[in-house]
Amino acid sequence: MSIILGIDVGGSGIKGAPVDLTAGEWAVDRVRIPTPKKSTPQNVAAVMAEIIDEFKDHVGDNPVGITFPAPIVHGRIPFIANLDQEWAGLEADKYLEDKLGRKITLVNDADAAGLAEVHFGAAKGHPGLVVMTTLGTGIGTAIIYRGVLVPNAELGHIEMNGKDAEKQAASSIKDKEGLSYKQWAKRLQQYYSTLEMLLSPDLFVVGGGVSRDWDEFGPLLELNTEIIPATLRNRAGIIGAAIAAQDAIENPDMLAQPH
Ligand code: BGC
Repeated sequence: MSIILGIDVGGSGIKGAPVDLTAGEWAVDRVRIPTPKKSTPQNVAAVMAEIIDEFKDHVGDNPVGITFPAPIVHGRIPFIANLDQEWAGLEADKYLEDKLGRKITLVNDADAAGLAEVHFGAAKGHPGLVVMTTLGTGIGTAIIYRGVLVPNAELGHIEMNGKDAEKQAASSIKDKEGLSYKQWAKRLQQYYSTLEMLLSPDLFVVGGGVSRDWDEFGPLLELNTEIIPATLRNRAGIIGAAIAAQDAIENPDMLAQPH
């Protein structure tokens, strides 16, 4: 099965496209629907249903991969920082399978982006320890060693200066506080130096919409570890969701998020 629908749930938009997993490309253009103001399970599931309906001719009854901005532990969401709190504690896989009437695989959004970059993007085929970070509403992180994902790393929430790191260094904070790239890069420097000390990675990949402006802040970072921008940009979540769904089909007993 090589065409699988990927859906990427973010704080501002819910995006989906059928993914050709041989090429690592969208098979047809994506759709984007704004995330409902009240991002409850019911409202978000209704948007997902709309996206599935849009692409039903391409993906038939195939399972769907869905990213979420939260850890996913055996289909359950233990906590969530940037969507409605009704999601916290929910058996989200069962809830969504029931609402959407098909098999789904849920995966953390940064894990999906990391999988996509390692399969098809900036870290393609990397032989060592890759730490993917997504800078957006929050900070998402993924740890991938020799192509294998260690799921649910929540390193956006490490403590920095006594506070949650993502509340100081996410790109949404740059916008909210009106920081220049230079001011923001100082915070990123502290953040990435801490990750470097904790994990000794071989490579950092920086994703999220702001990676488009890499030239403005990337060269300001001084690390021992190589650090590069993501290449799949806004395609990474959708492609990674489809990779996770395919993995669940092929290895039903081997997943961190089994059904
Ligand atoms: C969440 C992570 C997520 C990241 C990016 C954080 O607040 O805890 O699970 O990957 O935001 O969306």
